[in-house]
Amino acid sequence: MTDLSVDAIALSDPELWARPDAEREAVFARLRAERPVSWHAEPAFHQYPAGPGYWAVTRFDDVWRASRSPETFISGKGVNIGDMPVEISEFFGSMIAMDAPRHSKLRGIVQRAFTPRHIAKIEDVISQKATEIVDDVATEGEVDFVTQIAAQLPLQVICDMMGIPASSYQRVFELTNIILGVGDPEFAQTLEELMAAAMELYQTAMELGEARLADPADDLTSALMHAEVDGERITTQEFGSFFILLVVAGNETTRNAISHEMKALTDHPDQRRLWADDFWGVAPTAVEEIVRWATPVIHFRRTASRDTELGGQAIAEGDKVVLWYSSANRDESHFADPHRFDVRRTPNDHVGFGAGGPHFCLGANLARREITVMFDELFRRLPDLQITGEPAMLQSAFIHGIKRMPCAFTPSR
Ligand code: HEM
Repeated sequence: MTDLSVDAIALSDPELWARPDAEREAVFARLRAERPVSWHAEPAFHQYPAGPGYWAVTRFDDVWRASRSPETFISGKGVNIGDMPVEISEFFGSMIAMDAPRHSKLRGIVQRAFTPRHIAKIEDVISQKATEIVDDVATEGEVDFVTQIAAQLPLQVICDMMGIPASSYQRVFELTNIILGVGDPEFAQTLEELMAAAMELYQTAMELGEARLADPADDLTSALMHAEVDGERITTQEFGSFFILLVVAGNETTRNAISHEMKALTDHPDQRRLWADDFWGVAPTAVEEIVRWATPVIHFRRTASRDTELGGQAIAEGDKVVLWYSSANRDESHFADPHRFDVRRTPNDHVGFGAGGPHFCLGANLARREITVMFDELFRRLPDLQITGEPAMLQSAFIHGIKRMPCAFTPSR
């Protein structure tokens, strides 16, 4: 546990998010123990003044309860800590920042597009792309694990699903980095840069959506543009925002799970051996453990729609409530030995994909499949791959990201 007293903990201090993971985990351990629901100031966002502050929810049980009470803890007033200007939140919002009935309608349309036929097709694509990604690096011996391996599979799969041509993969990668890299000095520095990135993706989506509406192809964009619920179709604008959500969510999360997993397997050779000895037997629990261990999405926010209570703390209507998944996934009152990386952990009802309720990650099964297929390919073809240097971490309170991380393996000829 941290030396900081509970009164000295300031979750909005950007410095905290530049510190090593272990120090942050120690801070959250203190909050869970002494003030599980605590009040924090908000950071200012560029020229916009800081908001009123928020409640930080750190225990597993409270995160779970809030997530499953969507009428009391709503998403429609924003899911990030700061309130974004309306013109921006409309681009980023999509269904993750909506409540019923709008959310249910849009999710219904989207879920219909994730039919078994589509998923079956995607499974073949995932395997084929994982093979090609390893082909591209196999003779090199030393590469950057994040950009050359981990980031490639989710990027290529989501682009392929949507019908984005291979020539645009790199641009989509750069744009999603800008959007979720906010706060890290390496990425967007101004609101204008952030808006420009969102606008470019929105424009790409609108053009693609219009094209598929007129001339459908065998991709998710066509399925979404033509799907109907109660006689209604998704509008091109709704599709534009959903497209941003999907490519950002599909890209920036699974890649970090894969990167954190490779680092954890390098740091815990006993766990690596256990998995390698029985790959398909251990894969289901190993994948869940990595999503718990890494918690690629650190938090999402809700807003209280009425006066209520959470974890013994009175919450007033209109208060912002931030669900810290990273902390819930280390809650010692819920997980046995939570700081141990255990590829066979059972049970493991982590909240890495959300804690249940209407917004539970739509891509969870896709992400699980991508992680499994990538490690199958790596274990078989580059079995001695090791991470050889410290990861360059993304400075963010929202995405637990690794930007770069060197690795080495015996090159194949
Ligand atoms: C390891 C990888 C991933 C992690 C850790 C992750 C995490 C999350 C989390 C925490 C949420 C919010 C849940 C809630 O509020 O209850 C979410 C929602 C969502 N995720 Fe994922 N995600 C991952 C992969 C993906 C992929 C690959 C896709 C794309 C197909 C995706 C698409 C979405 C969408 C569309 C939502 C919003 C659902 C809604 O509002 O109804 N995610 N994800």
